[in-house]
Amino acid sequence: MTRDAAIPDALIEALRDAQHVCVLTGAGVSAESGVPTFRDAQQGLWAEYDPHKLATPEGFLSDPSLTWEWYRWRRQLVSEVEPNPGHVALAKFERLVPKLTLVTQNVDGLHQRAGSTSVIEFHGNIFVDRCFAEGSIVEDSGSKELPTCPRCGSLARPGVVWFGEAIPGDAMDSAFAETAACDIFLSIGTSSQVYPAAGLVEIARSAGAVTAEINVEPTEDASIFDYVLAGRSGVILPKLLDSLSV
Ligand code: OAD
Repeated sequence: MTRDAAIPDALIEALRDAQHVCVLTGAGVSAESGVPTFRDAQQGLWAEYDPHKLATPEGFLSDPSLTWEWYRWRRQLVSEVEPNPGHVALAKFERLVPKLTLVTQNVDGLHQRAGSTSVIEFHGNIFVDRCFAEGSIVEDSGSKELPTCPRCGSLARPGVVWFGEAIPGDAMDSAFAETAACDIFLSIGTSSQVYPAAGLVEIARSAGAVTAEINVEPTEDASIFDYVLAGRSGVILPKLLDSLSV
């Protein structure tokens, strides 16, 4: 059974004094809602499915039906789950500190459904369709056929960032700028293996921010963080919020 770490007093004090908190979240934050992560050994999506087929432009073009089937399955899954106490605590946290920027690698929209407003979707959103050729947003027709762009006739694709693709420019610019200006940086529920998101902690450190990782198990490069809290985000984040509220 997972044991959830206690929160160090010094971290609580730093959070109380913080003017600008930056939070980076990954799939682990949605795990307690029932959304599978990517890299967990047994249940991670990439243990069962091939990312080269399902999360690259080349894979999409070689079999768009397979890719769409998988993303429609994931859309269905995500639309049937609810935000968990970790999402809810982050949304409340936003209202407690002078400024909070939430950068998420998650495409599931659960932070927004929990009430977070300042969310930077670093890897896009699974519920958006985009024209494969032009990148513009395409209205979902709800049809079971392969969707196409009404303007140019190209195939439409899920509006998420795939391997080998650039992060949307506005998300990249604002995530980097906000991270460089924060005084506390929290990395929560991410394996920190996918760049450029995994590099944000370096930017925060260079800016002199206090850094902390919250993860069920410390990640490979956890020693870079000032604080490493091992445990579930759905337990640790509400505890953190309680400690700040007293
Ligand atoms: P990963 O699946 O790589 O990592 C999830 C992390 O969450 C792991 O380090 C787990 O230990 C941790 N974890 C699991 N349950 C948790 C819980 N209840 N509380 C706290 N931590 C928990 O997911 P990401 O780091 O988000 O990109 O992956 C980054 C990107 O790789 C994703 O956005 C996706 C994927 O390929 C694309 O699809 C482009």
